[in-house]
Amino acid sequence: MSATGRTLRALTTGLLGSGAVGLGCLAYAGFYERNAFRLRRVEVPVLPAGARSLRVLHISDLHLSPADLKRQRWVSELSGLEPDLVINTGDNLAHRDAVPYVLRCLGRLMEVPGVYVWGSNDYYAPTFKNPLGYLAGPSQAKNPRRTKLPWEQLGRGLDEAGWLNLTHTRSALEINGIRIGFRGTDDAHLGLDRYERVAGHVDRTEVDVAIAVTHAPYLRVIDAMAADGNDLIVAGHTHGGQVCVPGYGALVSNCDLDTRRVKGLSQHRAGGRTAWMHVSAGLGTSPTAPVRFACPPEATLLTLTERPQGQGATDRSAGPAQMG
Ligand SMILES: [Fe+2]
Repeated sequence: MSATGRTLRALTTGLLGSGAVGLGCLAYAGFYERNAFRLRRVEVPVLPAGARSLRVLHISDLHLSPADLKRQRWVSELSGLEPDLVINTGDNLAHRDAVPYVLRCLGRLMEVPGVYVWGSNDYYAPTFKNPLGYLAGPSQAKNPRRTKLPWEQLGRGLDEAGWLNLTHTRSALEINGIRIGFRGTDDAHLGLDRYERVAGHVDRTEVDVAIAVTHAPYLRVIDAMAADGNDLIVAGHTHGGQVCVPGYGALVSNCDLDTRRVKGLSQHRAGGRTAWMHVSAGLGTSPTAPVRFACPPEATLLTLTERPQGQGATDRSAGPAQMG
């Protein structure tokens, strides 16, 4: 065989090999990993001295369709964790008929106190995307042709269960003798956030711990939440990057948050104060981009514990540390 022939043969073999590896990764991401659910467990020291710990289940980005049976089954079993509180950071729906399925799989979790906010994928159905388009930067949220989803019907179901809608609302619950103050916003990815409606410094005479909830952790929202003295910010939306590089991590956050804090527990400092922040990698994917790679779907059990002795609320060192 000539030198040219050998080169062509080597190139062809290489290309076929690369194609096979690519197809293998796509099959793994689409058929296995997107259903490889896991529970993340994280401790957050935000409670006053002497308080009993609180178990908070954070769920996000279900993106549920009636056909997503494995996701429904896994979520329905989370009630076995017996949390004290559930926080749902939105993007529940991926289909106009999904509401009864969401309510059914939340099931016994709705017997527990809960709070929620909406995401863009509660309001609007997904539109077709290149499965790897997630890597190209923040998705285009505003599309006037997007089909509306029955978020009001879902809201009625959650409200009937006693869950609190935190959309531009402040609220409070007392659980295990701990006074929890909440505030939340509408979806910043759609530009619907109006934090000023719930703004104001946390009043320590009224609450023992302050939790701020939003769907998409855009900096303008989490800056304001931290500066007001909230102890913990809880968000979703990022899908943890959804398609990540093993050993490196996320390439995108789908918002203006840095990719080091795209999922898990970190800290956020603004206005001279520091808040803990938990961002969920979420449980689902958009049905039009049904892949996850090096970023399995997850829910998180946050155990709120006492602050270290001598440390006041929000009086903690700043840092971008990725902790969970
Ligand atoms: Fe989402």
